[in-house]
Amino acid sequence: MKNSDILRKQFLQHVGQTSPSPMMIPVERAEGVFFYTPEGKPYYDLVAGVSVNNVGHGNRAVVEAVKQQAERYMHVMVYGEMIERPQVEYATALAALLPDPLRSIYFVNSGAEAVEGALKLAKRYTGRSEMISMRRAYHGSTHGAMSMMGAPEGEEWKGAFRPLLPGTKAIEFNDFEALAQITEHTACVLCEPVQGEAGVRPPKEGYLQALRERCTKVGALLIFDEIQTGMGRTGEMFAATKYGITPDIMCLAKAFGGGMPLGGFVASNEVMSTLQHNPVLGHITTFGGHPVCCAAGLAALRYMLDNDVVANVERKGALYEALLADHPQVVEIRRSGLLLAVELGSSEKMFRMMELFAEQGIMSDWFLYCDTAFRISPPLIISDEQIRDSVRIIRGCLDMLV
Ligand SMILES: Cc1ncc(COP(=O)(O)O)c(C=O)c1O
Repeated sequence: MKNSDILRKQFLQHVGQTSPSPMMIPVERAEGVFFYTPEGKPYYDLVAGVSVNNVGHGNRAVVEAVKQQAERYMHVMVYGEMIERPQVEYATALAALLPDPLRSIYFVNSGAEAVEGALKLAKRYTGRSEMISMRRAYHGSTHGAMSMMGAPEGEEWKGAFRPLLPGTKAIEFNDFEALAQITEHTACVLCEPVQGEAGVRPPKEGYLQALRERCTKVGALLIFDEIQTGMGRTGEMFAATKYGITPDIMCLAKAFGGGMPLGGFVASNEVMSTLQHNPVLGHITTFGGHPVCCAAGLAALRYMLDNDVVANVERKGALYEALLADHPQVVEIRRSGLLLAVELGSSEKMFRMMELFAEQGIMSDWFLYCDTAFRISPPLIISDEQIRDSVRIIRGCLDMLV
């Protein structure tokens, strides 16, 4: 048996699977906007590990930061006890970029954990238990985050795992009237400022303002899940600043770790401090804010700032849109910065595109709640030339659709 066949067999036998049809592309190495198979076949990575690799694969600044920190120290003590320079420096750099009063960040390991921490913090701060989410939201796969997957569409994923958290309810994103359901009983509203897995749904004009006002009026905390939209993806460092809204809590992960596993929830010092008492140690993590991950995240952030990466995101996203929108197979393009859903209007067409993409060396994907559109969310450092070249391949695949 060939080496590659042995690896495929071992992958299926020993690496736990939740998909009956994993992509199974063997990865040898990755650089910039490409990854390569052992045979050297390049793939344009138009998913970026689901909005993770914003500064590109193998970014030298990030790799060097990881190496240096790994040499200095890795895990020392559970979260929050020691003064670890990478954590402190990263938290300080973020605080300078976030709107006031978001000054205090609690580091965790992943997006779902950031959401769990944020929900607990909202309950602890308000003393209330009702939690409201948006339909077609995705916040993670742990019990709490899954409880906030918007019904009824989320039912397919969460039905089998009930009972989940009590006191949760889902409203329609972008529905102004539904905001009346947020009341004095509500601890928090959890919302992606641009819905990602719903198939890229930006907010309607004035919606996030109205949501903010309603939460403030009834004393509910507004939590923005910026796990996918944060770190430059929508054309500003955070969607919150793009739309001029300051949430009470912001969740970060994915690109936040510069390619390493890192998450965080950010709040004001006043809100965050409630986790210190009644009970003490209101949230505990062993590995949260791992020094190597914080060093990587900080290096990625500095790289973005030093190279004006975010300033070009909107223009690059608009270029993709302009180069694809007139193709007769494209029904519509929904977009925020470099997060695009190219709507084909049919899941058959979308799945055929996935086959063609795999042949032609394009890595794309569909969305949890939308299998009629394919995703374009490349590393933010993609060049104009690479955008044009990848569009040439995409259009060639679109031409082959019947
Ligand atoms: C908006 C959003 N929130 C939370 C998560 C969960 O993050 P993680 O997979 O790191 O737990 C995701 C992951 O896709 C996401 O897109």
